[in-house]
Parts: sequence; structure tokens; C-alpha cells
Amino acid sequence: MSSLGKKYLMALSGLILVGFVIGHMIGNLQMFLHPDWINEYAYKLQTLPYGMLWVVRLVLLLAVIVHIVTAVLLVIENKKARPQQYAVKKPFQASFASMTMRYTGLILLAFIVFHILHYTVQSVHPEFKELKTELQDVGTIHGVYDKLAAVGKTEVHDVYSMVAIGFSAQYWYVSLFYIISMVLLAFHLSHGISSMFQSLGFRNNVWRQRLDKAAVVIAWALFVGFASIPVAVLLGIITPTQS
Ligand code: HEM
Repeated sequence: MSSLGKKYLMALSGLILVGFVIGHMIGNLQMFLHPDWINEYAYKLQTLPYGMLWVVRLVLLLAVIVHIVTAVLLVIENKKARPQQYAVKKPFQASFASMTMRYTGLILLAFIVFHILHYTVQSVHPEFKELKTELQDVGTIHGVYDKLAAVGKTEVHDVYSMVAIGFSAQYWYVSLFYIISMVLLAFHLSHGISSMFQSLGFRNNVWRQRLDKAAVVIAWALFVGFASIPVAVLLGIITPTQS
């Protein structure tokens, strides 16, 4: 495959992953509303019809694999094309974010594996599986309460308390790991999103600077949105409704 083809695949897989993180961050911000919001939302995702949850998971997994494989192939290709290192190591105008892509990417991969074991598989805290709660019927956009109440069951997994306990002061080092990973995510995306625009052909000279700025704004907005949750738990703004 040509290097242009690889760059295109890398951008396309990156686009899927960025789309996911934006949606995931917006979903997570429901932690700042009533616990019913995130609990109904999680229930709705877990019970999507036609195995859609697994389709989404498969697409994300494929996107991660394609993203990593094309990145490795492009690095090898660049090394072959330029066997001798530059005398001056620092490439012209390269930013900190662009030079650290492979390291931030690798640490993010480790973060994602831990994060899935933490909150999806819950093997880090098997007791999280036992956290159940009654929906309070506060009225959310998900409409799960009505459906469950109709069949006489309003108990769902207490994702709100799970996240609040997972980031509590007792596990401050986990919160710290998340916050550091979110800083690395912001660096990775501030360069990644602007390269993605370039590879997908959305970047001419007029738009170049604007899109670069947009990439930085999106990346750091994601940092603020994601990091606000462990920070709010540590500050006592979000507290578990059960222990
Ligand atoms: C503080 C930040 C975050 C919080 C509070 C959070 C919260 C959660 C929770 C509660 C779940 C499990 C949902 C459930 O099964 O009920 C989850 C799943 C997941 N999160 Fe996050 N997340 C955060 C950041 C991130 C980031 C930055 C990424 C990606 C880079 C990410 C990727 C995922 C993935 C891939 C899943 C698994 C989805 C699935 O297959 O079910 N999360 N997250």
C-alpha cells in the first residue's frame, strides 16, 4: 500500500476514535446531573437492540488496530527513506505534541486497557458488579425509567456510584493516572486532529492555521471535560450514593 493510503487509513481510524471520545466525554458529563442520568444512559447503551453494543465495540477495536498498525508501518517507512539521522535532531518547527505521538499513543493504549478492566469488565474492583440502584424517575432524555417501570423493574447498575468510588480519595493514584492520561490524550489529539485534517484533504493554506487552532481547542476541551470528573470526585462535588 502507498504511504498516502496508509496515512488515509490512519486518519480515518483516528476520525472514528475522535468521534468516540467526543461522544464518550459528553455522555460522561451527565455525572454532573442527577445520578439517574448516567445510570439510565449506561443501561440504555448496555441494552441496545440487535447486538449494536458489540458492533460498536468491534468497530472501535478495528479502528485501534488499524491506527496502530498503520502508525508502525509509517514509522518504518520513514526510517527506510531517511536512514541517516539529521545532524540537528530537532526537525524544523516540529511541536512537542508531534514529536511525542508514539509515546503518548503507547501510554494511551495502556490507559485504555486499564480503563476497560476498571469500569467495563470491573475486574479491578469486582465489588462494582454488586452496585445496583433504583431509578428515581427524575426525567432524563433516555426514557429508560418509563420502560422499566412498565415491566415492574427499575433497578439498574449504579454506574454513578461506581465512578464516584473508583475516583475517591482512597484511590487518588487511580485518579492521578486518569488525569495524566487525559493530558497525554490532549497532546496526542492536538497534533493528531490537525494531521487528520491534512490527510483527509481538508487543509489548504487558508484553512491550515484555523484547523490547527481548532485541533488544539478540541483536544484541550476533551481534557477539561474528562478530567473534570475525577477532579470533581476528589473535591467532593460528586459523591457516591452508596458505598
Ligand atoms: C475521566 C474520564 C472517563 C470516565 C469517567 C469514563 C467512564 C467510563 C465508564 C463508566 C465506562 C463503562 C460504561 C459501562 O459499561 O457501564 C467506560 C467505558 C469505556 N471508556 Fe471511558 N471514561 C473516561 C475516559 C475515557 C477515555 C479518555 C477513553 C478513550 C481514550 C475511554 C474509552 C472507553 C472505552 C473504549 C470504554 C468501553 C466501552 C465498552 O466497550 O463498553 N474512556 N468509560
